[in-house]
Amino acid sequence: MTMTDGVLRCAQGHSFDVAKQGYVNLLRGAAKFSADTAAMVAARADFLAAGHYAPIAGALAALARETAPEATGGDLGCVVDIGGGTGYHLARVMSEFPDSEGILLDISKFAARRAARAHPRISAVVADAWDGLPLADGAASVVLNVFAPRNPAELRRILRPGGVLLVVTPRPDHLRELVAALGLLRVGEQKDERLADRLSAHFTEVARERSRSTMTLDHKALPQLVGMGPNAWHQQSERLEERVARLPEPCDVTLSVTLTAYRPLV
Ligand SMILES: C[S@@+](CC[C@H](N)C(=O)[O-])C[C@H]1O[C@@H](n2cnc3c(N)ncnc32)[C@H](O)[C@@H]1O
Repeated sequence: MTMTDGVLRCAQGHSFDVAKQGYVNLLRGAAKFSADTAAMVAARADFLAAGHYAPIAGALAALARETAPEATGGDLGCVVDIGGGTGYHLARVMSEFPDSEGILLDISKFAARRAARAHPRISAVVADAWDGLPLADGAASVVLNVFAPRNPAELRRILRPGGVLLVVTPRPDHLRELVAALGLLRVGEQKDERLADRLSAHFTEVARERSRSTMTLDHKALPQLVGMGPNAWHQQSERLEERVARLPEPCDVTLSVTLTAYRPLV
């Protein structure tokens, strides 16, 4: 695609306006039901701004630095975040790659709006991770996927040989103090193994590490945490308020995730 006067044009003559908030919508058809709502994105932005998930962003940035390929022939490749939300994690990772461009894809226009402002070198695109990704073959040297959907064949196509896919998934003990108390969805015991199986036709695992720490959350942060993710679809706000009021303040909550690095099979 080429960009002139704030309009992106493809070779077939389609054009897409860059919204005044700085993102471009490449979705075909109506937004899908899985898109985070304005309220979910606002809750996520507030929760992340308080630094509660900084250990994840820090571990991700370190793993990206360790596993990213060297530039070949001056070509750095992009850093791409699929289902990147507000751009919090990608912005942190970009600080490790001062000469690269970042591209964040998310199906929610509310997320893309925030992400466009998250870092000067991030471009935000509204697109469906399950569909063909709007990126050229081999365009990316690093792809991030944090608590978000992934289409293994497309992730492999957009990564250049030697590039790296970094996936963050919750572990079964993630938020364990809140699961029963707030009626949260449980993380399956076999989640890491299922992910490895689904990626194995396209990727080989090169590193796996765990990030585990304790967050100290007040009664303002708890509804943000519930409201920013899939639990938001299953909770009524009055019921949630009652349940939060019964918890101690502040409340110690386990943050526990797996970070896995994969290289595309050639
Ligand atoms: C749990 S949030 C994680 C956001 C971000 N990675 C983070 O950790 O802050 C999941 C994100 O995936 C996006 N999403 C859901 N379905 C999607 C799809 N089919 N294609 C692209 N993004 C999608 C949501 O809009 C949301 O921003």
